[in-house]
Amino acid sequence: MIVSPKIRGFICTTSHPDGCAANVQEQINFVKSHPKIENGPKNVLVIGASAGYGLASRIVPAFGSGANTLGVFFEKPGTETRSGSAGWYNSAAFEKAATAEGLFAKSLNGDAFSHELKKQAVDIIKNEMGGKVDLIVYSLASPRRTDPDTGEVFKSVLKTTGGDYTNKTLNTDKGEVSEVTIGAATEEEIADTVKVMGGADWELWIDALADADCLAEGVKTVAYSYIGPKLTWPIYTDGTIGCAKKDCERASAAIHAKLSESLGGCAYVSVNKALVTQASSAIPVVPLYISILYKEMKAKGIHEGCIEQIQRLMADRLYSGDLQLDEDGRIRVDDWEMRDDVQASIAAAWENISNDNFNELADFQGYRDDFLKLFGFGLNGVDYEADTDTATAPPSLAE
Ligand code: NAI
Repeated sequence: MIVSPKIRGFICTTSHPDGCAANVQEQINFVKSHPKIENGPKNVLVIGASAGYGLASRIVPAFGSGANTLGVFFEKPGTETRSGSAGWYNSAAFEKAATAEGLFAKSLNGDAFSHELKKQAVDIIKNEMGGKVDLIVYSLASPRRTDPDTGEVFKSVLKTTGGDYTNKTLNTDKGEVSEVTIGAATEEEIADTVKVMGGADWELWIDALADADCLAEGVKTVAYSYIGPKLTWPIYTDGTIGCAKKDCERASAAIHAKLSESLGGCAYVSVNKALVTQASSAIPVVPLYISILYKEMKAKGIHEGCIEQIQRLMADRLYSGDLQLDEDGRIRVDDWEMRDDVQASIAAAWENISNDNFNELADFQGYRDDFLKLFGFGLNGVDYEADTDTATAPPSLAE
């Protein structure tokens, strides 16, 4: 069928299989244009592997280090008459490209928070991946989590933990700057957000893998976080999501202690750059900040997408012997975003930005292009007038 974008607020309800494949191929080409990662990972589990940072975290080890990968995600398959989700098509393209190069690549589509999915992952690692993984990337972004023991469902909210907070925001549908007021969360909402986006499930994954003896000597694990500048702190770092990210740091220290003692392994939180992904486009204020950030970083020649960020994380930090940790023990690949000159320009633009000067001060076109690209639209070399196979599936998940 012919697929075109159908945007509803901050999501696009359709995705293009060939466009997603072209997007994945661009990322593979980027990784291949870099030297192989010396002593890189060989058997990798990526949780949240189908889009954004997790997809890049699957592509870099596979094509930069010849790694076998098991990817876990929650995506919607397509049919002959209805398009599936972008992550489904990304994973189809990834698996095909990886297996074409002789790499093992399998995927699990389901709820990563459940015990059942962890057990399925353990079975694949034991029976098909030589028994052990040496890198686990935790890159989930989810609005809800079902507690695997009690069945209780927790929902995350994007609210402040202080009082109401009013700032500029961007209506990404209309391309208009307006004001938004974000309310304060209740104690229960804060606790629920930590349950969903905090580090508890990362710990459960590592425990499940350790209990099944699936962790290699020297195993590494990493989860992703964001800090950003003060202007977004009320909604991000000091907001409900920031509380969850602090809990990831707690989990990182706990996992690190266990792994270093038993296997000479390690766990880190990596603080990454703000980028357009399905998860970040849902956060108020942040898309306007990202549009200005893109403008400044492109002007300075230091703009990066997910694949550039993860290439740098793996090649220049995790496997370089020089982690360059900050004072809180975190890896920082948001270093270029947080450069003083970049942040000073953004602060000045933020102060002055309005509908009148929006296109001068922000790269909204870049934001829109990246947003559409997430769903496989706007890629060079793809014929969007032609029929595309919406029933295509990752080979390991094909019926
Ligand atoms: P994304 O929306 O692009 O990808 C989320 C992934 O999680 C997808 O693979 C999806 O299938 C999977 N997923 C969601 N719920 C699931 C479930 N129940 N079971 C299995 N898989 C599930 O998100 P993005 O932006 O790449 O975020 C990944 C991590 O990076 C998050 O922890 C986020 O906070 C962090 N991060 C994101 C930044 C950004 O600007 N986008 C910046 C810094 C950190």
